Amino acid sequence: MRILSGIQPSGALHLGNFFGMMKPAIELQDRGEAYYFIANYHSMTSLYDPAQRRANTMDVALDFLACGLDPVKSVFFKQSDVPEVTELAWLLTTLTPMGLLERCHSFKDKVAKGLSPNHGLFAYPVLMAADILIYDSNTVPVGRDQKQHVEVTRDIAIKFNETYGDTFILPEPQIKENAAAVPGTDGQKMSKSYGNTIEIFGDEKIIRKKFMSLVMDSRTPAEPKLDAHENLAVKLLKLVAPADIAAQFEDRLRVGGLGYGDLKKALFEHHWNYFSAARARRAELAGHLDHVESILWEGASKARSLAQGVLKRARRASGID
Ligand code: ADP
Ligand code: TRP
Repeated sequence: MRILSGIQPSGALHLGNFFGMMKPAIELQDRGEAYYFIANYHSMTSLYDPAQRRANTMDVALDFLACGLDPVKSVFFKQSDVPEVTELAWLLTTLTPMGLLERCHSFKDKVAKGLSPNHGLFAYPVLMAADILIYDSNTVPVGRDQKQHVEVTRDIAIKFNETYGDTFILPEPQIKENAAAVPGTDGQKMSKSYGNTIEIFGDEKIIRKKFMSLVMDSRTPAEPKLDAHENLAVKLLKLVAPADIAAQFEDRLRVGGLGYGDLKKALFEHHWNYFSAARARRAELAGHLDHVESILWEGASKARSLAQGVLKRARRASGID
């Protein structure tokens, strides 16, 4: 089985990214051949500062390695070190119906929020399809918001296979239901574009403050809360605390007597402990950036030779060779 996923270098890693994509990807690295990349071409649809892009790219590399990506088990690389993917994106884009892209929620959401879209943002699912198909990927671990893009990838692959003969493997999205849409500080899906994120490797004080500002209702601590399972802090606690501890807090909230402030404090402590080993590894890696660069280079050379073979197959099938 080949597993593939990507993450954009578009800002600091947050709990949604970690539990929705990174943790499942890391768990899968023992289950097959894993290919994970930093989607720097994708970041070009929304970030226009070259120095920032370089810095974010290194940050994502540090984040992923610190969280447990093992370069001995997984191929880890920068998307742009395999430029073949942009050629494949062109072969695919000529078979992609406009309607398929017009239906994409992530595009529609961004337009609805008033963002003036460029063509890259509109066409981005085609580049994502190329990312997936060029490695003959079977499984794509992502958060729920990316599921539709994997379905678009399948549609494009089917169209290519029908038009030019069997060329691509059809991938499946893999979504962890307990972390498919991690809520942010306001209870909506956590996302950089909503300004409701809680970072993994940020400053302690700022992170504590974010937990303390989680939006709660105005019921008194004494009131029993039958909807304790829907409480935002309880939902987040289930991700970072052992199951029995999270269940105890949920029960205390349900019967009444636990104040939201105490719950949030406990949540912060568990969050901080949960990532303490990763934090130490990240600090260590940050002192050895050459080592990180060489991991990415080595990954790129493995990824590139695989990609070149698949691109050749697609060129031959479509009469471009
Ligand atoms: P953002 O919405 O903050 O810009 P990205 O689009 O860069 O996040 O997402 C990177 C990865 O993290 C994707 O696989 C995405 O599905 C996952 N992800 C992002 N936010 C969440 C969330 N709140 N819950 C679960 N997964 C998420
Ligand atoms: N679009 C994904 C995101 O914004 C990142 C990504 C790019 C990706 N190419 C991919 C994820 C291929 C999985 C597979 O989060």
